[in-house]
Amino acid sequence: MPNSSVKTHPPGEDSSSPFRQLKKELHERLIASMDLVALRSMEPERLRRELRRGAEELCRAHSQLLNQEQREGLIEEILFETLGLGPLEPLMRDPTVSDILINGPDKVYVERRGCLEETRVRFHDLDHLICIVQRIAQRIGRRIDESSPMVDARLPDGSRVNAVIHPLALDGALVSIRRFSARPFRPGDMIARGSATAEMLDFLAGCVKARLNILIAGGTGSGKTTMLNMLSAYIPPDERIATIEDSAELQLQQPHVARMETRPPNLEGQGEVTARDLVRNALRMRPDRIIVGECRGKETLDMLQAMSTGHDGSLTTVHANDCRDALRRLEMLISMAAPELNMWFIQNQIANALNIVVHTARMRGGKRRITQISEITGAERESISMHDIFRFESVDVAENSDSQGYFMATGIQPECLGRLRSSGIHIPPALFQERKLFVDRLDSLS
Ligand SMILES: Nc1ncnc2c1ncn2[C@@H]1O[C@H](COP(=O)(O)OP(=O)(O)OP(=O)(O)O)[C@@H](O)[C@H]1O
Ligand SMILES: [Mg+2]
Repeated sequence: MPNSSVKTHPPGEDSSSPFRQLKKELHERLIASMDLVALRSMEPERLRRELRRGAEELCRAHSQLLNQEQREGLIEEILFETLGLGPLEPLMRDPTVSDILINGPDKVYVERRGCLEETRVRFHDLDHLICIVQRIAQRIGRRIDESSPMVDARLPDGSRVNAVIHPLALDGALVSIRRFSARPFRPGDMIARGSATAEMLDFLAGCVKARLNILIAGGTGSGKTTMLNMLSAYIPPDERIATIEDSAELQLQQPHVARMETRPPNLEGQGEVTARDLVRNALRMRPDRIIVGECRGKETLDMLQAMSTGHDGSLTTVHANDCRDALRRLEMLISMAAPELNMWFIQNQIANALNIVVHTARMRGGKRRITQISEITGAERESISMHDIFRFESVDVAENSDSQGYFMATGIQPECLGRLRSSGIHIPPALFQERKLFVDRLDSLS
């Protein structure tokens, strides 16, 4: 995350070793004193009650060392340790945390409101950290150890986890957890955060309803998936949607969703199910629209073919630096999937399949914004024709401060307006008149 400023906190009480040592000891004794076989078959609520009772008993035995508040805190921590994600639980419960990034047992960072901060959270040691990672992987039937030191997983609350341990992680273990807000972003949230204007979102909503094919492009963590989720809310509830993801993050609200997730190969290198396999399978499931969480391989060609052969209204994302770069990236992904295809053919495929490209960016200071909404109008003379309908214009500001600028309508009337009209969506042409567009709380620059 290149633009983040990192705040550091001095180590807090958590890291003081006698307290940590006591916690570790009590946790070990608690486990030793319990009948683990019986515990495994217990209802979660009863299990929690039993463990709390055991932890309280052990803490009472150390009452001379702990005051009431410390005892309560310790009991909670032991429960987190036994049932949950140990020291990470408080961060997982904090709604302001969007990412948790662990570089080793003593280096836990979080992202809040776009800025990285070091936390006071500590693991006892590397084994403790790896044990928590193994628990996360086991929950979804995957494993992580020296022979298979990298895993992608998902937590029950939908958070996405990537973990890499030694020998690949030189300092023992690297864990990245991407959290999602329990409630998907709505257009009002985007506007309130200065990520887009009402005009831009009205246009995009019309494009989704009129079944245009939309590609969302942007850098890592720029808000692509969040935007995809938000736009998917405009798909009418009576349509059947097939979703294909590497790790399920989409939170579609429609009743008729066929959700599929790819599967990595097992240790013997077998059993892999790729996004391409799933896109091909989806075509046999009679979907009205297909959503591919991210195009990063051979599925790109199948996805574009599906978009131009009856599954219009489909959505996907790709890593790219701007809208033009997104098309270059698609060209590259397709030519890797089918080297025999010539560039002219590939560009025609892209131009026929895609209508709108939305670019999202993580700006200096951490704000996420739509920086471009472009329309694809065709392919000619060895390039795909496209123009910007809306753009964010950055204005230079001092180092380390929030990025500033303004959104603007470029003055170009989208060619797709006719198609929108024939779908009953009437957007007044004045919406696209060349001018600056301001949003609530966007720093005024007039
Ligand atoms: N408009 C926004 N305003 C504020 N926060 C946002 C916005 N969009 C996304 N976020 C937050 O930024 C983080 C990254 O978002 P998201 O996962 O959508 O990005 P991404 O581009 O899909 O990332 P990746 O490249 O890792 O797949 C999430 O925690 C999300 O809640
Ligand atoms: Mg994403």
